[in-house]
Amino acid sequence: MSGVAVSARNVTKRFATHRAVDNVTLDVAPSESVVILGPSGCGKTTLLRLIAGLEVPDTGEIWMGDVQVAGVNRSLVPPHRRQLGFVFQDLALWPHLTVGGNLQFVLDSLRVPRAEQSERIDEVLRLVRIEGFARRYPHELSGGEQQRVALARALVGRPRLLLLDEPLSSLDAELGSAMRGELVRLQRALALTTVYVTHDREDAAVLADRVIEMRAGQIVRANDTRPTEERA
Ligand SMILES: Nc1ncnc2c1ncn2[C@@H]1O[C@H](COP(=O)(O)OP(=O)(O)OP(=O)(O)O)[C@@H](O)[C@H]1O
Ligand SMILES: [Mg+2]
Repeated sequence: MSGVAVSARNVTKRFATHRAVDNVTLDVAPSESVVILGPSGCGKTTLLRLIAGLEVPDTGEIWMGDVQVAGVNRSLVPPHRRQLGFVFQDLALWPHLTVGGNLQFVLDSLRVPRAEQSERIDEVLRLVRIEGFARRYPHELSGGEQQRVALARALVGRPRLLLLDEPLSSLDAELGSAMRGELVRLQRALALTTVYVTHDREDAAVLADRVIEMRAGQIVRANDTRPTEERA
């Protein structure tokens, strides 16, 4: 086993002629929390989707541990076999399913026996501190509660890599900062390998072991533990 949890090697993704991700190379170590910081449109979501297998690269390779999961124009391991948890920018909870149903869907797809499921669901709802919400529907929850459900759904399958796409962007400042604290707690408690995407420097400062800055599809600054402005 290599000392790398996930690795993008010279990855490019074009939409028409636009290079949304332009020759990006990035290694994330096991249990490391990497924050990708950059302005709107710089390619952050596209990079996460490439790692997840929701897009395939036009050039380059993606590896998880010592397994290559994608190469030029092809996926070698499909998303549901990459052992990922993904919190999407818009959360994307399934509105017709209760909180418990959202989590159960994941466990069913992983073929976790029904007998084990309720314990796993209770455990993860406790972890994100919304125990007792299993029977509610997403529209019956506040923004912050929905955010916790999205996180619970990403964690319930016990992923080896957690991908978070601006999961706090819909929250007000106070709730956002409380949730940031919760995320740090969970990362440490579970020793999660995390790639966290944001345009918010405060998120980056709190959550990152390492900050990677992106502009126009490229990594412009890496291998530093804090964002640019704080180093001066
Ligand atoms: N499916 C697509 N088809 C065409 N262009 C796309 C597609 N997805 C993304 N793009 C373009 O690629 C670029 C990068 O998009 P991406 O969503 O990765 O940016 P982002 O950094 O996540 O931005 P934001 O902070 O606003 O979420 C943008 O110019 C966007 O318009
Ligand atoms: Mg995005």
